[in-house]
Amino acid sequence: DWNMPDYITEAVEKIRAQVGSDEVILGLSGGVDSSVAAALIHRAIGDQLTCVFVDHGLLRLDEGKMVMDMFAKNLGVKVIRIDAEDQFMGHLAGVADPEQKRKIIGREFVEVFNAESGKLVNAKWLAQGTIYPDVIESAGKGKKGQTIKSHHNVGGLPEHMKLSLLEPLRELFKDEVRKLGVALGLPHDMVYRHPFPGPGLGVRILGEVKKEFADLLRRADAIFIEELRNTPYEFIAGQAVDSDNLPKNWYEATSQAFAVFLPVKSVGVMGDGRTYEYVVALRAVQTQDFMTAHWAHLPHALLGKVSNRIINEVRGINRVVYDISGKPPATIEWE
Ligand code: XMP
Repeated sequence: DWNMPDYITEAVEKIRAQVGSDEVILGLSGGVDSSVAAALIHRAIGDQLTCVFVDHGLLRLDEGKMVMDMFAKNLGVKVIRIDAEDQFMGHLAGVADPEQKRKIIGREFVEVFNAESGKLVNAKWLAQGTIYPDVIESAGKGKKGQTIKSHHNVGGLPEHMKLSLLEPLRELFKDEVRKLGVALGLPHDMVYRHPFPGPGLGVRILGEVKKEFADLLRRADAIFIEELRNTPYEFIAGQAVDSDNLPKNWYEATSQAFAVFLPVKSVGVMGDGRTYEYVVALRAVQTQDFMTAHWAHLPHALLGKVSNRIINEVRGINRVVYDISGKPPATIEWE
């Protein structure tokens, strides 16, 4: 267990020695890993770093604003934000298969990122927030002859991008990355956020992705997360939490929680009228390694409040269900 300020000093020196006076680009996703990598590299080389933030239209509510506030405003990092929502939605139109959607999102991401970074003629390095578990997982890929869901931040660079890789988090585990992020001045809540998949809401909207669905899902998801954060933790039998390190609220008591958009309409009533609208499923799990997971035994009052708020506040959704499937056999994501 190393001392954090010493670790930062060492890592900063290493990055400076590696990069010299070269320019570096980094794809900022809003996730913990790329954020911590950006903060660390910025500490080392300041304005030699340019971050490219691709908004594919499949991010959580206000995520783009949060990323820009945190990096551009507060840390003074150079960030180029690219609004590519229309482009992504266009390519996803008519595509329902989950792996196909992942491929398209990954491919378009690289496309947009390359086009933008191609404008930074001086860039010699591509920085990535690859962490130790990514390295291990990639190494094992394909050995069992099964398709592991593709993580698009790992693997070879496209041929035409003659950039060297800068991966300052390669030796760190997630908890170390988080501690490093806090020590570098990133907000605690950001650094301790639940993981969010690269394809984003693209795999939380079942079947074909549409902007209209993404907008509904973003709002439902934000309500769920807000209530999890605002509800103090209490012990409920059947849940798997670390008893030495009790969580403060239900967001901390869960490893991953989110809403899923089901492209199914069901009948409801509102006032004197009949509604015929979409369904949202809530998913909350507790896990150590994300390979197996328990569904979280959330308090009924919390579930009830989330359900009421979503149905009252998000016009277009009239039914909320709670997913009580473990992994295995269900996966954490629905796609
Ligand atoms: P599953 O659904 O396989 O998810 O139980 C396990 C963990 O992996 C995340 N996940 C992904 N992350 N790209 C990512 O970067 C993906 O395509 C992807 N699919 C699943 C999921 O959110 C969970 O944390």
